[in-house]
Amino acid sequence: MGEFKIAHNRPLITSQDQAAVQAVLQSGWIAEGPAVHALEKSFCALNGGGAATAVSSGTAALFLALHGLDIGVGHKVAVPTYACSALLNAVKMTGGEPVLVDVRPDDFTIDADALANLQVDAAIAVHTFGASADVAALQAHTPVVIEDCCQSLGGGQGKLGAAAIYSFYATKVITGGQGGLVWDAQGHVAERARDYREFDCRKSYVPRFNYQLTDIQAAMVNSQFARLDTIRERRQTIHARYTAAASTMLVAGWGVQAGVAAAEHLPYRFVLIAPDEPARDALQRAMGEAGVQTIVPVERFELLHNYLELTPEQFPVAERLARTTLSIPLYPGLSDDKIDHVCRALEKTL
Ligand SMILES: Cc1ncc(COP(=O)(O)O)c(C=O)c1O
Repeated sequence: MGEFKIAHNRPLITSQDQAAVQAVLQSGWIAEGPAVHALEKSFCALNGGGAATAVSSGTAALFLALHGLDIGVGHKVAVPTYACSALLNAVKMTGGEPVLVDVRPDDFTIDADALANLQVDAAIAVHTFGASADVAALQAHTPVVIEDCCQSLGGGQGKLGAAAIYSFYATKVITGGQGGLVWDAQGHVAERARDYREFDCRKSYVPRFNYQLTDIQAAMVNSQFARLDTIRERRQTIHARYTAAASTMLVAGWGVQAGVAAAEHLPYRFVLIAPDEPARDALQRAMGEAGVQTIVPVERFELLHNYLELTPEQFPVAERLARTTLSIPLYPGLSDDKIDHVCRALEKTL
C-alpha cells in the first residue's frame, strides 16, 4: 500500500484518545473494568435505555446475540450474501443454518421480499455501509431480527430489532483496534452475553468463554464515542463532496449506493456503481495512478454464496455489485486537501 498517497481507510487517533489509553495504563487496571462499563452505559444512552454488553469483537457479539435469542441447532437464519463472512461464522458457531438471501440493488441491504418463500427462524439485518436495512419488512417474516450495526452507528439504527450488535475493529466508525458490543431493549440478550463472556470464578458451571474487552480498548472507544457528532458530520461532509464531484458520472450510467446520506445517518463508505466491470476496473486504475487507494468493497469470492459454493445465478444482484462497485476513501482523518485531491481525481477520470 506504500505507493498510495491516500489510503482507503485509516483510523483517526487523536491526542485525547492517546491520553485516555495512557490513563488506563497508569491506573494499574487494564482488563475489563470501569472503561468497559462506561462504554456499555454510553450505548444504552445512545439507544435510549436497554442493556449493553461489550465483548471482544463484532463476531463475538453476533454469536452472543444469536445465542441469547436461543437461535442454535436446527434453526435457520437468513443472512445477506453481500456481507462479511463473520455472519456465516457466527451462525455456524451456534449450530444454526445460514440461509443466504440476495440484496437490493440500490442500497445493498438484505432483500426482505426474498424471505416470503423461505421459512426462517431469524434474520440478520446488516445496515450495509451505513444504509438502513428494512427491519420492519424482515419482521413480517420472522420475529427475531438482529440488527448488525458494525458499519453504522446511531441514527435510530439498532433500536427496532430483537438485538443490535456493533464492532470496534480498526476500520470501523469508532475503534479500539478490536472490540464489539451487544445491545437489546429488554436486556435479556445483553444479560446472557454478560454471563457467557467470562468463565473465571463462577459459582455454577455451564460452558462459557472469554469474550472480554479490555479497558485499554474501551478507553479508546469511549474517547471516540465522545466525539461521535463530529465524526458523523465530517463523514457526511465528505460524502456530500464526493456526490458533487461524481455528479457528471451519475448521468453517464454510473450510480452511488443509496441510503447512506440521510441526515441522521453516518456514511461509512462512498460506493460508486459502474455500468460494467471494465468501467469499474478502469476507474480503480485511474484512481490508483492519481495516488488514491480504492477497494472493491465485497469481492466475488467473498460473497457468502460463493464461499458455500451455491449457484451464483440465485444471487444476481450481489454478483453484479461485486463486479461493478468501488469504494473510495471516506474517513474523518482525511484532510480537506486530500478530499479535494480525491474529488479532482474523480472528476478527471469521468
Ligand atoms: C457487517 C459486519 N458484521 C460483522 C462484522 C464482524 O466484526 P469484527 O471484525 O469486529 O469481528 C463485520 C466486520 O468485520 C461487519 O462488517
